[in-house]
Amino acid sequence: MKKLRIAVIPGDGIGKEVIPEGIQALEAAGRKHSVEFEWTYFDWSCETYHQTGRMMPEDGIEQLRQFDAIYLGAVGFPGVPDHISLWGLLLPIRRAFDQYVNLRPVRLFDGVPCPLAGKQPGDIDFYVVRENVEGEYSSVGGIQYEGTEHEVVCQQSLFTRRGTDRILKYAFDLAQSREAKHLSSATKSNGIYHSMPYWDNRVLKMAKHYPEVKVDHYHIDILTANFVRVPEHFDVVVGSNLFGDILSDLGPACTGTIAIAPSANINPEKTYPSMFEPVHGSAPDIAGQNIANPLGTIWAGAMMMQHLGFPAVHDSLMQAMETVLKEKQHLTRDMGGVASTQELGAALVRHIA
Ligand code: NAI
Ligand code: MG
Repeated sequence: MKKLRIAVIPGDGIGKEVIPEGIQALEAAGRKHSVEFEWTYFDWSCETYHQTGRMMPEDGIEQLRQFDAIYLGAVGFPGVPDHISLWGLLLPIRRAFDQYVNLRPVRLFDGVPCPLAGKQPGDIDFYVVRENVEGEYSSVGGIQYEGTEHEVVCQQSLFTRRGTDRILKYAFDLAQSREAKHLSSATKSNGIYHSMPYWDNRVLKMAKHYPEVKVDHYHIDILTANFVRVPEHFDVVVGSNLFGDILSDLGPACTGTIAIAPSANINPEKTYPSMFEPVHGSAPDIAGQNIANPLGTIWAGAMMMQHLGFPAVHDSLMQAMETVLKEKQHLTRDMGGVASTQELGAALVRHIA
């Protein structure tokens, strides 16, 4: 019996509603494959911020370091500015643990109504590989002459060679491992003068090591249009922090709901714990109503098991998810059903068992 030690941060809003479903599903799939879990809960959230002035304690990163992985719901809630909640918890964890890959699968499942006309399950099946620790999401910059008519704001994007090359290498490796062997790079080298031509050049350099991988480049504006027009064209899409963030909401939205989509913040070297969460946020508009879709969190749990070396647990979670979607008996409202968060979670657990 293998025992995994997981740090759990349910966070805010629907984060607290979907995480229990994820844990139940992981427990059920773990039992089938002799994997045990030890869950350690951290109540770090916007509520904590109101009480303590911090999203997580000063030694928060140290507390997390000893775990095999981190399982996160979502953070952010009205009353705390979003840049405080993100920069106070999520972004420091991604950076401190060098989780430089953000891997976000996009798939159209049988049973989920697709908003794009004429698309069948299987037509949409690709990965967004997002750079996760640098790029546009930088804290370098400042405001001068604040509060006056001469106010000037400067926000720096940072692209390092190391940071660019390692995310590209990850994306090329992933593309190489897939049947289609097709990589699309998100750029904007027509409008952004320095960083994006640099990005394009590094893509071309990296491509030389992967002669079998077919590479194309799209400016981000037409790339978003193509996600909607021809999603079946894509296999692996790599982008900077900002572009990857945008694409990984749009991609899942094209498959019916963003609430299914998972997000793996990966430290590929496994020097530090990686973190797994749904793509969606805390959804204050539906929080407390018990209608949140838990599947993004459950799929994130499956990715956690894949990362930790338990592909059988991953597969059993994915099969249960496919079955529950196909049956259409226990879908939440965002997928056109009437089931509650727990009803969907429980149906999935029954399929695992
Ligand atoms: P959101 O993802 O929370 O919500 C967007 C829309 O999708 C809402 O209408 C919501 O009801 C719906 N939705 C999201 N998840 C759902 C689910 N599981 N089931 C059914 N419907 C779902 O994004 P929004 O509104 O931009 O952000 C809300 C808060 O969440 C903000 O404070 C934001 O900063 C934070 N946020 C946190 C993230 C994280 O912790 N990783 C990621 C994105 C946003
Ligand atoms: Mg996002």
